[in-house]
Amino acid sequence: MHYLLGVDLGTSGTKTVLFDTEGNAVCSKTVEYPLYQPANGWAEQDPSDWWNAVCEGIQYVIAKSGIDASGIEGVGLSGQMHGLVMLDRDGKVLRNSILWCDQRTAKECEQMNDMVGEKRLIEITANPALTGFTASKILWVQNNEPDLYEKCAHILLPKDYIRYMLTGEFATEMSDAAGMQLMDIPGRCWSDEILHKFHIDRSMLGKLYESPEVTGKVHRRAAELTGLREGTLVVGGAADNSAAAIGTGVVRAGNAFTTIGTSGVVYAISDSVSIDLKGRVHTLCSAVPGKWTVMSCTLGAGLSLKWLRDTCCHEEMLEAEKLGIDPYVVMDRLAEKVMPGAGGLVYLPYLMGERSPHPDPYCRGIFFGLSASHSRANMIRAVMEGVAFSQLECVDVFKEMQVSVEDMIACGGGARSPLWRQMLSDLYGCPVSTVQSDEGPAFGAAILAGVGAGIYASVEKACDSLVKKKSIQYPNLSTRKQYKEYYELYKQLYTDLQQCFKHLSKLPK
Ligand code: XUL
Repeated sequence: MHYLLGVDLGTSGTKTVLFDTEGNAVCSKTVEYPLYQPANGWAEQDPSDWWNAVCEGIQYVIAKSGIDASGIEGVGLSGQMHGLVMLDRDGKVLRNSILWCDQRTAKECEQMNDMVGEKRLIEITANPALTGFTASKILWVQNNEPDLYEKCAHILLPKDYIRYMLTGEFATEMSDAAGMQLMDIPGRCWSDEILHKFHIDRSMLGKLYESPEVTGKVHRRAAELTGLREGTLVVGGAADNSAAAIGTGVVRAGNAFTTIGTSGVVYAISDSVSIDLKGRVHTLCSAVPGKWTVMSCTLGAGLSLKWLRDTCCHEEMLEAEKLGIDPYVVMDRLAEKVMPGAGGLVYLPYLMGERSPHPDPYCRGIFFGLSASHSRANMIRAVMEGVAFSQLECVDVFKEMQVSVEDMIACGGGARSPLWRQMLSDLYGCPVSTVQSDEGPAFGAAILAGVGAGIYASVEKACDSLVKKKSIQYPNLSTRKQYKEYYELYKQLYTDLQQCFKHLSKLPK
């Protein structure tokens, strides 16, 4: 029997999943670790926590499934994007990793624009200077910890640190490296112009591979620590969102997925490079060799409903406990009783500020139109609609960029709600499906390992045979019409309130 291993290094924990070559999950293990917030808006993790979680996860799935590790044909890595890992000449970690959600680098973003020019930066890296991406984090270390930067010999992304620990190789792959803001995205290579202007030595960066390519083999010490066979292949793997795309079969132009997790991601494939000059959505390299992707990331999607649940829905939580069901199912049932438009209530999901399509750290959440006649049911429905509107606003940008979305897969915790999926379908005006495997990025990483190990002929062919749809919902035209005016009002609200958000941010709290 042959197996593939997918390891997804998330922000809350690492999920390790062993698959057979038919795509069935045989055994899975998630190991959690802490997130450190040393100052307001900062977010860091200790790379040794990741490595320990990977070792524990791999050991567990091999022992629990009782398989012979020599049956594992390859390992695929996927991981949280943009995090900065710095190593010294001996491969020792120099500081905690500065993560994707860390917001400390607003000044460095201005510096990047001054160094390269806003327009040129977007032309080369396909994205505006973003606090979330890696380059601004590197500049922050240069500016604030120069002695430490002096000692830095290697710059890696989170999952690529795991690759180094498994194989000893300093390497990365297109889909994750694209989020470092150091690449020439159309050319799929490091940009000498950008590296020169940011004073980053090219030798610090890993070798760039396409995602299914073999990047190295598990060495003896890593084999001892994980239980893997020495010599097991490790392929490039992919950024978590790109790996999720593979795991949901989003590999051809026209295919897209929407994740409603803590954040909301819409991700579509494109055969050519398409860049939004206003920087409202990201253009990155896809994990499918030779393809690109357009991706949006909204910061308060599932987070908004969780916030409402925790602050206002204690009755629903109690009822769910009595019935032995998930509180979100009870909340869904309430929301279903309210008409589209939530009885005249519009929600803006900017609890954490926003990234797509409004890169704005100052905006905040709104319930607009609240009246004494409204109940929690209206609020739940309004939150779900507001989150769905925010995804549609991103898809509208994709369409302006001529990136087509004909078929949408829904994933993440929010996709468990048939009501939320129907909203997405009504708003997008296209079918919305789910897929059978809910292993997401770990599944995508394992598929890439299978392509690298020669088990599947290509990423596309592997997805055609392994990824199976589960449910499909079609747009309801009359509901679609009902949403239209609410959506227009939703968009207007951000435009009208932008200055008020800035004003609010300056008031004492
Ligand atoms: C994407 C992004 C997040 C992280 C989280 O740009 O920042 O989706 O990859 O894992």
